[in-house]
Amino acid sequence: MSNAHGDIAAQKRQAGEAALRYVEDGAIVGVGTGSTVAFFIDALAGVKDRIKGAVSSSEQSTAQLKKHGIEVLDLNGAGPLAIYIDGADECDPHKRLIKGGGAALTREKIVAAAAAKFVCIIDASKQVDVLGRFPLPIEVIPMARSLVSREIVKLGGQPVWRDGVVTDNGNWIIDVHGWRIADPVALERELNQLAGVVTVGLFAQRPADVVLVGDREV
Ligand code: A5P
Repeated sequence: MSNAHGDIAAQKRQAGEAALRYVEDGAIVGVGTGSTVAFFIDALAGVKDRIKGAVSSSEQSTAQLKKHGIEVLDLNGAGPLAIYIDGADECDPHKRLIKGGGAALTREKIVAAAAAKFVCIIDASKQVDVLGRFPLPIEVIPMARSLVSREIVKLGGQPVWRDGVVTDNGNWIIDVHGWRIADPVALERELNQLAGVVTVGLFAQRPADVVLVGDREV
C-alpha cells in the first residue's frame, strides 16, 4: 500500500527488523501485537537461538511465536523484562501513544509495565502532534459498557461500542471519538478511575522509551 507517507508496509517491515538491534543475547523479549510486530516476530525467529524466550501480549502473537519455535513464557515466572517491542496506533512527539486498535491493550500495558525499555515500532502515518485523531480504545468489563459510555459523554467524548469484539480477557472495547487529547497523562489517570474500566489505550504515564519510524530512531 502506498500513500503520502510512502510505502507503509515497507516501513512496518523496516521497523520490525530494526527493532532486533535492541534485543540483547540471553534476553526474554516482551512482544506486542499487530501487523508491525508480526514483522518483528518473523525477524526474531532468525535469532531465536540467542534469546531465552518471549512473553507475549496476545493469543495472536503467541501463535506466531510458537509457529517459529520461539518459547513463550508466563510473565509471572519471567521476572522483570529488559525489553518490550510493540507497535502503536498513534504516537506524539513525547513518545506517548494510543494503542488498542487490535484490542490487545490490556496485556500490552502489563508487559510494557514489566519492561525496562519499551521500543515502539511504527510507520510515519502514526505520528501526530496531538493524540486523538485515532479513536481511543478502552477495555471495559461487559456489564459496565453503558455506565462507562455515559461517563465518557460527560467528559466530551463520543463512545462507540466495538460490537462483536471480545478481548483475550473476555471483555469489551469502547472506542472514543472526538477527543483532542492535550494532556494524555491526566486523561489516562482520570479514565483509570472509572468503575468498570479495565484498561485505557493511552500509554502516557508509561510512554515508549525509543520510537522507530521505519528504521529511523526519532
Ligand atoms: C493492538 O491492540 C494495538 O495496540 C497495536 O499495537 C496497534 O494497533 C499496532 O498497529 P499495526 O497493526 O499498524 O502495527
